[in-house]
Amino acid sequence: MTWTAGYNNSIAYTTGYYHEQSPTFLNACLAMQRVSPPSLEKFTYCELGFGQGLTSLILAATHPSGDFYACDFNPLHVLGASSIRDEARLPNLTLLENSFGDLAQGQVELPMFDYITMHGIISWISDETRTQIMRFLTRYLKPGGVVQVSYNAMVGCAQVLPLQRLLMLGAGEGGDAWTKASGLAAKMVNLDALRFRRNPDSQGRVEGFATQDKRYLVHEYLHEKWTPFYFTDIAREMAEAKLSFAGSARFAHMSPVGWLGERQREMLETVTDLIEAEELRDYFANRVFRSDIFVRGKAPLSDLRLREQAEHVHVWGNPAVLYQAAVKLEHATLTRGEAFHKPLFDLLHGAEMTLAQVFDAPEFPGLSLDAILKLLRVSIAVGETFVRYGAVQPRAAADRLNAVLLTRAEQGEALGALASPRLGGGATISVLDELMLASLYAKADPVKALTGDIDELVARVSRSLIATDLRLQVGGAEVSPEETTTRLRHIFEDSGEKLIAHSEGLDFLPVQKTSKRQR
Ligand SMILES: C[S@@+](CC[C@H](N)C(=O)[O-])C[C@H]1O[C@@H](n2cnc3c(N)ncnc32)[C@H](O)[C@@H]1O
Repeated sequence: MTWTAGYNNSIAYTTGYYHEQSPTFLNACLAMQRVSPPSLEKFTYCELGFGQGLTSLILAATHPSGDFYACDFNPLHVLGASSIRDEARLPNLTLLENSFGDLAQGQVELPMFDYITMHGIISWISDETRTQIMRFLTRYLKPGGVVQVSYNAMVGCAQVLPLQRLLMLGAGEGGDAWTKASGLAAKMVNLDALRFRRNPDSQGRVEGFATQDKRYLVHEYLHEKWTPFYFTDIAREMAEAKLSFAGSARFAHMSPVGWLGERQREMLETVTDLIEAEELRDYFANRVFRSDIFVRGKAPLSDLRLREQAEHVHVWGNPAVLYQAAVKLEHATLTRGEAFHKPLFDLLHGAEMTLAQVFDAPEFPGLSLDAILKLLRVSIAVGETFVRYGAVQPRAAADRLNAVLLTRAEQGEALGALASPRLGGGATISVLDELMLASLYAKADPVKALTGDIDELVARVSRSLIATDLRLQVGGAEVSPEETTTRLRHIFEDSGEKLIAHSEGLDFLPVQKTSKRQR
């Protein structure tokens, strides 16, 4: 066995930022599911398998009071993330080129952790490697500590298993494995293999391959050990490490879910076992992916304790989203009654509030705390409302990281997310927005620059496009190089202010820069 233990390392993993791993966010998830969260005053954090490292970089930058560790056995990943960390001067992030086995055996001196998170790990590794992770959790998680783990869920993924096997068959040895793998799958679909006709989800996946990032696809499917899990199996393994299920890291999945039909709800009410009920919900929703939170020592929040925690949970409206009564939640469309959902939307679009203030708002007379939590969870799930646990942290490190990420984007290495102190984490951003923001970021007054320095801004973005070999696209059509400058000028004129306001809303830009705006 090589150091990869069956893990496919032929292509470096795509970058992604996963907010579900943010301590600030996880604490809000816990409090809003009535579980006591750890203190964020001073804490230790470990990410297992950090890939390109964007999540740990952003989290370390936006949580200066945390001591962050992240490990990945791929030296290329450690090299890439270390160079950004050093350039952004993030003293609270230690990057380890170690395997989970090394850590589980205590080969590296580590503190006990308040948070251990892993995204995109356990469904793609061997049983032996998963056992090492469980040993690591047993050994290094503090009492009261939190584990976040995401994985492919068996219920929805069951019909994908033969597709994954077929892709592995097609990939074979050497050459461009993904081209060969997807070629074989497409051929089978085209030859009308009954397997695909009878399993439309698998067929849809094959048809969607052409539009997806190849690096993601290789890491999703071309692993010897592609394993979806039943929730109950994961919960059992976690229980052996003294970890209890505390809820979901996805607001859409939190119970009681908004989409349950009357008869489904009645049936679930007869199920007293929390773990079994959770798995039954996977069947009702045919879930393909889960992001779970487990805790070592689950302290439930009484109404009194929930009210105390609610002082730390901050919620505010997303200005980019308009109210719609009908919203999509997992597989279902939910039509919301006007009585409370719309007043909540209006309330939070006025100002940032604590959850405690929402509990006491006159808009919700006579509603129980749980009923208000349910309203809010839907609003967060559909992207109307942002949530953060605790006060906004000092922003110096986040600004340094954003400056580095924007420069990297200009050099053709757009990572797709920036740090947001207000969110206690990050948020995604498109490449063009990143290049435009990079040109504005250097300006003392970005709004003024939109008129005063427009030629310079356009020239800078044009240069970035040439340097990164990217073509501007407008309305799906590629803009010719001769036309690019004129089009960029129009984009700056039409959308420059909106981009600045959006970046201000997401807190990518330092306040002192945007406060000069004359609005
Ligand atoms: C699918 S990627 C996910 C990366 C990152 N968490 C994300 O979601 O962007 C899995 C990562 O785990 C790392 N990995 C896999 N097995 C490992 C092991 N046994 N020890 C350390 N890292 C491992 C791989 O190098 C890879 O970067």
